[in-house]
Amino acid sequence: MREDLNNLQKKYTAELNEATSLKKLDELFLKLFGKSGEITTFPKSFPSLPKDEVKVIAPLFNKTKQELESALEKRREEVKLAGFKKILEEPLGLKDVSSKTLDKIPSKKREGHMHPITQFEEEIVHAFAKLGFQQFEAPHIDSDTYNFEKLNIPQEHPARDLWDTLYIDQTYLGPNPSKLLLRTHTSNSQVRIMEKFQPPIRLMNLGRCFRYENVDARHEHTFEQFELIYIDKGLSMANLLYLSEYFFQAIFGYDVKARLKPKYYPFVEPGAGVDGLCIFCKGKGCKICGGVGWLELAGAGMIHPTVLKNGGIDPDIYSGIAWGVGPGRMAMLRHEINDLRLFNSGDLRFLNKF
Ligand code: PHE
Repeated sequence: MREDLNNLQKKYTAELNEATSLKKLDELFLKLFGKSGEITTFPKSFPSLPKDEVKVIAPLFNKTKQELESALEKRREEVKLAGFKKILEEPLGLKDVSSKTLDKIPSKKREGHMHPITQFEEEIVHAFAKLGFQQFEAPHIDSDTYNFEKLNIPQEHPARDLWDTLYIDQTYLGPNPSKLLLRTHTSNSQVRIMEKFQPPIRLMNLGRCFRYENVDARHEHTFEQFELIYIDKGLSMANLLYLSEYFFQAIFGYDVKARLKPKYYPFVEPGAGVDGLCIFCKGKGCKICGGVGWLELAGAGMIHPTVLKNGGIDPDIYSGIAWGVGPGRMAMLRHEINDLRLFNSGDLRFLNKF
């Protein structure tokens, strides 16, 4: 047996060193380590050998196996390197490519354009600017306080599960850092806005948000949100419905109606899911709306009195509306795109269609 092992090693070492292509090395690999390869099948005879003999042959077998493995790996690197060298050192085979010749080839100008989501966002901003809303920016990296606590979502509250959050590793922040995270929604602007401005307030906040999501055709870890904050005396759900309808008609066309249904968000009371009449079937029921005739397009509500108080605004005098949508999902609907991931894929075949 020992001799068999020796011969096997000699034979294959020689073959390995002669091999000059990766294909040949793959073949050798299979002959040795494949399902019925010589190394794979070798130990099959061990059970029928006397125990003493196995004690000697088994470690030898292991050693041979390892040596052949590393010889194969080493040869693979050598062959690969030789291949690279060959390609890199060979002349290109073009005759007389002087700069003059190159000058004669006309260069093709490629015109850029705005990203489809940016185009869409400009339209949204434009529509609400006409109602007197101005833009406000809130930070992407934010404290737990503005993203959650001041929005009536205390630490350890189960409502936190609504937002799969990416926290920032505290170890890099020095001693006693406040808890930082990537904002999960543009609602991190709400209390900031109240602290900065006196009512009447009409502001909109647009930008990137981040969640610890399983990415699929309708979810991205990095996505856009758009949010309106409207605070004044005597606002009600009627104003909210008006804003929703105004939005859908501005973006999707005059025949798109809105309807509100109760929905829970800790920072609004009452909270509403805003449905738009399905833009594909106009309410008849189709594949896209799952036969319902309506699509949930926005989240909204009357700002919770606690949140107003947290922002220093007296809820007995003022009321507020918060209203938010995901422009990515909207753009998907409008252009009938079935995979959100295409937008950030950087694939020009897709982007050039807009
Ligand atoms: N911030 C909420 C979310 O990300 C959406 C929302 C905005 C709900 C404004 C109500 C009011 O899910």
